[in-house]
Amino acid sequence: MTEKTLVLIKPDAVERNLIGRILVEYERNDLKVLDMKLMKASIDLAEKHYAEHNGKPFFNRLVTYLTRSPIVALVLEGENAISRVRALNGTTDPETSKDNTIRALYGLSLSENTVHASDSKESAGRERSIWFAKNYS
Ligand code: TYD
Ligand code: MG
Repeated sequence: MTEKTLVLIKPDAVERNLIGRILVEYERNDLKVLDMKLMKASIDLAEKHYAEHNGKPFFNRLVTYLTRSPIVALVLEGENAISRVRALNGTTDPETSKDNTIRALYGLSLSENTVHASDSKESAGRERSIWFAKNYS
């Protein structure tokens, strides 16, 4: 099943010049870049993106982090893209993420974990409409 998913290359990664090394991981795995932009996220966009975590103890730190410097927003397409990109990224905490996942390779900490990817078809649709005005049906 061909799917589209939304990825963010987060501030810690852009700050450390890791954009290219992260894109290589996706492209090597037959994921097609359909759209891409470098931008500084507003607090409003960051809060919308992480709405499911609003009210949790780490929410304010998360929004401050995501908005502190530019991010790269990507739409990737491929076979089972949603679950495959989550697997390539690794688990939330880089410390316990499997070897060679992007978070194990480059993640700094649980809160600065280098990449985001949508976790379901529904969140992929929701998140794509947050970061990209046009929709690719
Ligand atoms: P979550 O959606 O649980 O993880 P994922 O990014 O793997 O889908 O959490 C969103 C982000 O919030 C996560 O990437 C890092 C941050 N976070 C914390 O800072 N502390 C925490 O305890 C958790 C669960 C997440
Ligand atoms: Mg999540």
